[in-house]
Amino acid sequence: MMNMMRHLLVPNRKVEAILVQITEHNWLAEGQRIFSSDDGSHRLIPLAVSADSNLPKPFSNFDIIVCEGKIDERIDTDWWNHLTKLVGKETVFKYQESWPSSHEFFGDMMIVRIDDEIKSYTSEIAEAKLLSHPSIRLVLSDGGVMGEYRIRDLEPIGARKESIIYTEKIPVDSLNTKVLIKESGRFISCDPTVAYYSTKLQTERLETLSLAKELRAELNRPLAVCDPFCGVGPALSTLIGEKGLVDEVLASDLNSKAVELLFENLQRWDKRKYPKKTDHLKNYYTDRIIGLADATKLSKNPELTGRWDLILVNLPHRTIEFLPSLIPLLNRKNPSLIRGRVIVAESEISSTNEKINSILPSILPGKPKPKLKIKRDYSSALRLCSFEAWISPED
Ligand SMILES: C[S@@+](CC[C@H](N)C(=O)[O-])C[C@H]1O[C@@H](n2cnc3c(N)ncnc32)[C@H](O)[C@@H]1O
Repeated sequence: MMNMMRHLLVPNRKVEAILVQITEHNWLAEGQRIFSSDDGSHRLIPLAVSADSNLPKPFSNFDIIVCEGKIDERIDTDWWNHLTKLVGKETVFKYQESWPSSHEFFGDMMIVRIDDEIKSYTSEIAEAKLLSHPSIRLVLSDGGVMGEYRIRDLEPIGARKESIIYTEKIPVDSLNTKVLIKESGRFISCDPTVAYYSTKLQTERLETLSLAKELRAELNRPLAVCDPFCGVGPALSTLIGEKGLVDEVLASDLNSKAVELLFENLQRWDKRKYPKKTDHLKNYYTDRIIGLADATKLSKNPELTGRWDLILVNLPHRTIEFLPSLIPLLNRKNPSLIRGRVIVAESEISSTNEKINSILPSILPGKPKPKLKIKRDYSSALRLCSFEAWISPED
């Protein structure tokens, strides 16, 4: 069967630079190889299906050739085969349940969680993952989320540079962890070593989008959205991307590195200028209040209270504690919505539901009482849940 695919036709002298950028976008077709044009003056770079149909500059300077792809037969995409060669069949069998069969892609990086039991095979795991995923540049081991900023504890365990795999003495210039991720058709700048961002929350963000559309229909006007734990802004990316859905935005975070990335993202999404460096909460435009702020103190500023139709509360281990300080921010002249995430023991879900209902103002008639929905396991005992609360206007 012919495997017709798009290739970017790049003059030989530009291949190296363009390849770096294509890999950054994660647009290199996995398992396919780059090959020479008939006259030898160009290289044909195979493009992944996810690559945009209208490529931006500088890629748009080159022709796209649709032709049969050439499978890179040197690449075995099954990581178990590589692992077996590196550690032997018996060792693979011995720790059968512990090997990280799953992983998270993060641009051209991969994040893997390595059980204590197999820590001594970290280098082999990194090497096997890199050998089986030729478009991955850097593999990081995941030590979990930590501290107030909810940043992941990530350690580089392997890298690829100019086709050479390193699991020790990783070259410094391979350690860059700032990447561009494409989500719901939009680019998000992020760096998991300095600010929280999870690729796993995409479905959650789409659910928030659908609730926001429901509220927009109820109010019959674009929404004022407050995201006081916004991180690098992924929830806003989805909401702002929907034409006519959002008007005013308050986006803030306590982590200055997250705000720096947020400015970079907003500049791209809004096509308006924002500072390069982080700064305190400011009205940059009539419809944009952005910057560094402690969410629990926002309601001390009377200019910010009674103003927001939709509030996002994404600090799951402290949502219940912070909820009372966020309620004054709601616009109570009309129906409003709080969308929150909570980490709780399964045994405490029903008491937490009661607590949420006791903290919140009265619920909009016709809407159900807020209730935690389990989204996934956080640990053996804890569950990651989300809820939505439709709040009634004040009498
Ligand atoms: C779980 S992350 C969510 C980030 C973002 N909303 C997302 O979905 O990617 C929680 C964020 O809350 C921020 N944070 C923690 N405490 C805060 C506070 N008191 N005020 C404002 N932001 C806070 C952290 O820095 C972190 O970026």
